Amino acid sequence: MSEVGVTSPLPGRALDRLAERHSVRVRPKGPALSGRDLAAFVGEAEAVICLLADRVAAEVFALCPRLVLVANYAVGVNNIDLEAARTSGVWVTNTPDVLTDATADLTWALTLAVARRVVEGDRLVRNGGFSGWKPDLLLGVGLQGKTLGIIGMGRIGRAVARRAAGFGMWVCYHSHRDARPPDGAEAEYVPSLDALLARSDVLSLHCPLTPQTRHLMDERRLRLLPRGAIVVNTSRGEVVDEEALARVLASGHLGGVGLDVYEREPEVHPALLGRPDVVLLPHLGSATGEARAAMADLAVDNVLAVLAGKPPLTPVVKPLVPRS
Ligand code: DGY
Repeated sequence: MSEVGVTSPLPGRALDRLAERHSVRVRPKGPALSGRDLAAFVGEAEAVICLLADRVAAEVFALCPRLVLVANYAVGVNNIDLEAARTSGVWVTNTPDVLTDATADLTWALTLAVARRVVEGDRLVRNGGFSGWKPDLLLGVGLQGKTLGIIGMGRIGRAVARRAAGFGMWVCYHSHRDARPPDGAEAEYVPSLDALLARSDVLSLHCPLTPQTRHLMDERRLRLLPRGAIVVNTSRGEVVDEEALARVLASGHLGGVGLDVYEREPEVHPALLGRPDVVLLPHLGSATGEARAAMADLAVDNVLAVLAGKPPLTPVVKPLVPRS
């Protein structure tokens, strides 16, 4: 029996399954952990399941010599020092696939909410401002015949592209890692990011956060979008320069913005908060009961595998020399 730390309660029954085989310590809900606080929580544990808000820096590996696995309860792993994990002999796993459909659906929910002014409409009704049907009440933009530009054609980018056909949109994409077209969807690979932006009536971001993608959408690139374009971000907030986004929106260049993630999450740039053409969600991409329970199951399966001396199901980092 090994010791496993879990930095937050998780939905579903997965932790009960883990507790049948190992000694599980679940931290009650609280602020995210980082550095020495996280190391103190991990203590003598051999595996930790952590959230994307927890920061797993190199010092955690140094201070926790018994730790052999960090199982991130997320598909993104930008909260973990991956190179330090590798050289310290620690596995890192994530939760791909099981949240793909949920995140793709939410991307479309945001896109439609912005294009069809859903949140403004809801507010108008609640505030008693709806006095009957009018020919020009809250006119939005139609998506049919428009171009959807996708940056990052990984699992989620592909699932978003597949759904585009249902809205009659043409899909163009730019991707560093993989230029393969999505299965089951017609889409055009555009090798130049600038050229992709110039054609995107709706731009949806699906790239991981890396040093190369931080502020990928800066002011120059935002201004390359056609006037009236909609920007949707369900990836990581730091991919967009939020200050620049607020400026470009204020200049009237963009038609609207839908954000699920923020540069300084959970803070939101104050200039975005008061704008009716911006729809803001609290990082809900994978937030369905089904997806979150499946993420917990996958994280637990990774822990069970590694603690049984087997390779994990969804490794992100394979240790240089695994700790024994
Ligand atoms: C992830 O998994 O990386 C999402 O941002 C949260 O589900």
